[in-house]
Amino acid sequence: MKPTILVIDDDASLRRVLEYNLQDAGYQVFTAAGGEEGLALFAEEAPVLVISDMKMPGMDGMQLLKAIKERSPETLVIMVTAFGTIDVAVDAMKAGAYDYITKPFNRDELRLTVAKALKFCRLTVENRRLKDELADKTDYQTIVGSSKAMGRVFEIVRKVADTEASVLLTGESGTGKELVARSIHQQSGRRHAPFIAINCAAIPRDLLESELFGHVKGAFTGAIKDKTGKFQLADGGTLFLDEVGELPLELQPKLLRALQEKVIEPVGGTKEHRLDVRIVAATNLDMDKALIEATFREDLYYRLAVIPIHLPSLRERPEDITLLLRYFCKKHQADAVVFDAGATAALNTYGWPGNVRELENLVERLMIMRSGNVITVNDLPDKILSGSVTSDASSISGKVVNLPIGGYSLEQLEREVVTEALEHNRWNQTAAAKFLRIPRHTLIYRMEKYGITPSAKTE
Ligand SMILES: Nc1ncnc2c1ncn2[C@@H]1O[C@H](COP(=O)(O)OP(=O)(O)OP(=O)(O)O)[C@@H](O)[C@H]1O
Ligand SMILES: [Mg+2]
Repeated sequence: MKPTILVIDDDASLRRVLEYNLQDAGYQVFTAAGGEEGLALFAEEAPVLVISDMKMPGMDGMQLLKAIKERSPETLVIMVTAFGTIDVAVDAMKAGAYDYITKPFNRDELRLTVAKALKFCRLTVENRRLKDELADKTDYQTIVGSSKAMGRVFEIVRKVADTEASVLLTGESGTGKELVARSIHQQSGRRHAPFIAINCAAIPRDLLESELFGHVKGAFTGAIKDKTGKFQLADGGTLFLDEVGELPLELQPKLLRALQEKVIEPVGGTKEHRLDVRIVAATNLDMDKALIEATFREDLYYRLAVIPIHLPSLRERPEDITLLLRYFCKKHQADAVVFDAGATAALNTYGWPGNVRELENLVERLMIMRSGNVITVNDLPDKILSGSVTSDASSISGKVVNLPIGGYSLEQLEREVVTEALEHNRWNQTAAAKFLRIPRHTLIYRMEKYGITPSAKTE
């Protein structure tokens, strides 16, 4: 892509000279005849470099420089000053101009100054990219988990990361789908290329197509200039299609074609672009149901889910809870914080419907609200206590159940405990069985024995 330069000068002939010379040197040039017009064009085109005359009617060069620096401190501005006005040039440099050239200037002088500025600009961008990458690494790398279920996830990720295979991540909200998607990118040969994420559920459907594939100027009302879509931005890298299950049916054939043939066509365009993009998608919808109900195309599903990876909910891997608590305490510079037995028990039996995200938010809140380094049940929110069987362990001196004075049927109690465990685990039998520390077949046997189903709640 050619670097873009905005030239602002009220002198039409000088403007043309600058434009011609810079175009000739391989740059894309926009021109404006004054400060106001220049500023408007600046907002629209976001050029990497601005060359502006100092003396102009209306908004002069100095005012323009300040306005640009306010909006975008990193944009480089070169001022054009009249011969013999060196103090004006110095003022401009003080106000943030990168450099200046004095009129009259020759072609080589102009090109040299511009080339120097653009080189500086490239170095700054490169520097920032390296910094981001470093930050990304420290951010993305840690996926905490020592449970068997997470072990299986790590193993698949390791195997598929450096392949071209499309990956579909499924799992409840907050289980780490995006974290894993980024980790796949980081472990692939594409790690130096962009990781671009798009949330298919968050973008209005009439904008989604152009977000994904881009559009050409004039494709529809409001398309005032060409737009590069996420696919193109991800060229050479990874495109993360988040909440892909929400992709409108009418867009699915176009996505399928992009995946199969590796070409995209911007909205309103006639030219196809060949791209090299690795797809990682995620959804927390029940895709089997979406396929049956035909809200999602089967052919597209199989294209996306070449490697399906299911992220287990926190309920299914309670052994990771303690590890995650430690990890997030550390992340919040609270290494010294410990959870006492009561708090640990409550946190371990809670259902965590919001999974790791909920746990992380809780730790963040506890780190702010705590009065000391020991977290007890008193520090925990009611929601957690009422969702765990140790809820009133502290108030009934360690007893889990308070029996009525007149006695109680053990069978009835068992029926209630089983039902509650199932409800607490959203009727996930594996999770409920784990919760009750019994094998799944025992749970199923009990459910049949008492006729426990989601609709037939026992009283
Ligand atoms: N195993 C893990 N180890 C450390 N942090 C985790 C883990 N899983 C999730 N997280 C953290 O929990 C938060 C939620 O994770 P993420 O955004 O990846 O979830 P998600 O599955 O994409 O959720 P949603 O479906 O709601 O978008 C993030 O801050 C993430 O860093
Ligand atoms: Mg997500």
